[in-house]
Amino acid sequence: MAGDIIVVENLKTSYGERVVHQGLNLSVRKGEILSIIGGSGTGKSTLLKVLLLLKEPDKGKVLFWGKDVFSLSSRERQELRDRMGVLFQSAALFSSMTVGENIVYTIRKKAKVSYKAACEMAAFKLELANLSSDVFHMYPSELSGGMKKKAGLARAMALDPEILFLDEPTSGLDPISADEFDRTISKVCRILGVTVVMITHDLPSLLISDRVAVLAKGKVVYEGEVKGLWQVDDPWLKKLLSTGRGRRFLGGVQA
Ligand SMILES: Nc1ncnc2c1ncn2[C@@H]1O[C@H](COP(=O)(O)OP(=O)(O)O)[C@@H](O)[C@H]1O
Ligand SMILES: [Mg+2]
Repeated sequence: MAGDIIVVENLKTSYGERVVHQGLNLSVRKGEILSIIGGSGTGKSTLLKVLLLLKEPDKGKVLFWGKDVFSLSSRERQELRDRMGVLFQSAALFSSMTVGENIVYTIRKKAKVSYKAACEMAAFKLELANLSSDVFHMYPSELSGGMKKKAGLARAMALDPEILFLDEPTSGLDPISADEFDRTISKVCRILGVTVVMITHDLPSLLISDRVAVLAKGKVVYEGEVKGLWQVDDPWLKKLLSTGRGRRFLGGVQA
């Protein structure tokens, strides 16, 4: 469809004998926040690896801006990767560098800019991620969990990506920090017009999503608006929604 920046068609992915995706279809629209949910081991992180061109599928197509990525030259693939930002579950910043240096390093690895300009860019990204300016000079070990995630987000945005991939960004955060992180993502998406693909296990995070995709049995069994989750006939999802948290969440969506 026009406006889709990523289209995944009939994807099959495996690790040796272990088949993870079998005929998975998904599309991502420009400027949206798309959340991907699904039980543990359903292949969410693997899907992210495929989208980041870190894992080659056995079959199927992945189109970015209409181009089949697995037919690109290695140089074209690199150019494509440079348009994506990623925050992995571990949010691993280099522990021997300050937060600011981490981001400056990421910028200068790719862009030929002066140290001073890179520092200014890094400071701007930290501000966007709702971190105070003194975080620039702090080491990752000095940050709380929520701050670490935000610093990881700032680094993922270092090179002004067009698409931001986040793997369970709120996992391990307390509910207040998780909410704050969600608001930050939402803000970044609107201000920078960046498209966000976010894996999450956290129901409240769906409230900032424009659409949601549910993974089960190697496929996307639902792709659409959050309020449509009620109608999805999937045992894992039904179980999730029938928990106290699930009912409260859906009450919020429906209200
Ligand atoms: N590097 C790997 N080698 C072998 N199997 C893997 C590897 N990574 C993931 N898997 C397996 O693939 C399945 C999907 O994993 P993953 O994509 O991490 O799921 P999720 O992120 O949804 O929890 C799991 O059964 C997992 O054990
Ligand atoms: Mg995972």
